[in-house]
Amino acid sequence: MDSANAKQLMPALFAIAIGVDRTAYRMLREALPMVEFREVPMDISKLLKGDGEAEPDLIFCGRPLGSIDLVEIALGIRSVYAQAPMYYVCTEREGFDQQALSKNGFADAFLLPLDKSVVRNLVTDNSADYKDVPLINLTPDTVLDFDTYVFLPINRKFIRYSSAGSPLSDARSKRLLDHEIRVIYVPVEQLAAYSRFTTNQLKKIKTGDGLGPIERKEMMQKAVRSLLSGFLTENATIQDYNEIVKTYIIETSPEPDSIYERMLNFSNSGGDAYSHVTNASSLAALLSLGLGIGKVEEIALAGLLHDIGLADVAIENQEKHDSERTEAERLAYQQHPLIALQIIKKRQIELSTRVLKIIEQHHERWDARGFPNEVRGADFMAESQLVAIADELEYATQMRAGKNRVSLRVAVEKLMQSKAYDPALLAIIGDLLGVKPQ
Ligand SMILES: [Fe+2]
Ligand SMILES: [Fe+2]
Repeated sequence: MDSANAKQLMPALFAIAIGVDRTAYRMLREALPMVEFREVPMDISKLLKGDGEAEPDLIFCGRPLGSIDLVEIALGIRSVYAQAPMYYVCTEREGFDQQALSKNGFADAFLLPLDKSVVRNLVTDNSADYKDVPLINLTPDTVLDFDTYVFLPINRKFIRYSSAGSPLSDARSKRLLDHEIRVIYVPVEQLAAYSRFTTNQLKKIKTGDGLGPIERKEMMQKAVRSLLSGFLTENATIQDYNEIVKTYIIETSPEPDSIYERMLNFSNSGGDAYSHVTNASSLAALLSLGLGIGKVEEIALAGLLHDIGLADVAIENQEKHDSERTEAERLAYQQHPLIALQIIKKRQIELSTRVLKIIEQHHERWDARGFPNEVRGADFMAESQLVAIADELEYATQMRAGKNRVSLRVAVEKLMQSKAYDPALLAIIGDLLGVKPQ
């Protein structure tokens, strides 16, 4: 979800300087060359009216002259600009009381030129500490319970865009909704809150009051589309989506202790093979939600269980490429979708016929070159195709012994040329992921 191009498009941040003296103003501009400044006179009546411009990203306030009270000024600024961090900045030590200032709503206070380097650090360079994320289903009253940051392209600095717990201002949410701000970052330690928020946004759409089924479906597709917007960029992985999908399915499931949840706990206790089914399951579920195909919980469950039949296939055989298998090994391997059905029956796991069918069909192919039943065309259910596609993409993008891993983009481009799936389905998947079928 990271792209150099998107970063280039990011508008510079802008700051207002309210009553900042000439020397301090010049030093501020020197310290923050990537920030666009606008000067505003320190006039409380004018301040209260606002200047009609967009909400600034930073506010610098100078020392008031004459009888104007700084506390009053601070309150005035806050009443107009609710979000932006506000800093006090001056060049005279006299009356400079950092603690008193922070009590009055200032995020920090700087004495220039002494604090010039500290000012520069207002925008900190810790790229490993932030992850770019899509925000879905935003409305102007959305409250995010995590901090968001934007990235300054000029010198790779991050700066806070919104604070956890406060609603986005109209101006800020408008900039996001209009895609004027293209990439939003969340501190890595707050990613759990981000996943939680995203799950809740999906749940809101699912249960959306006053929405008709068609509207709901369209909103869900739009949300998943933006969720997947960074899917094919260099540093995105399928794992990024696991937490969101898992929580969404568990919390929207009508049964409290669903088979999905139990199987997931079991899957998470294992190694590679388990992460394969967990990833394939969440990817298939996202495709299902984004395309409006099938019941997402059935597809997710089938994704978790699709390879359960490999339990009866020798490990060496499992790890071989098809071209390296002997005839006997190939036959044994090709039994695993059917063995899965036997295992499920033996263990008395209760699954719908549709879930069983998806598991049985996960290696079938549109051109009838699949196994075990060599079904053809429309007999290869769309739901089964989603799981098969997720299975294939997951496998291609993971590092495993004896094979090269490819990026998601390469795997999806290859998928677009495949004869293994319904061309109409590939076309809408290409559309969802922003890749043209070739
Ligand atoms: Fe399989
Ligand atoms: Fe698989």
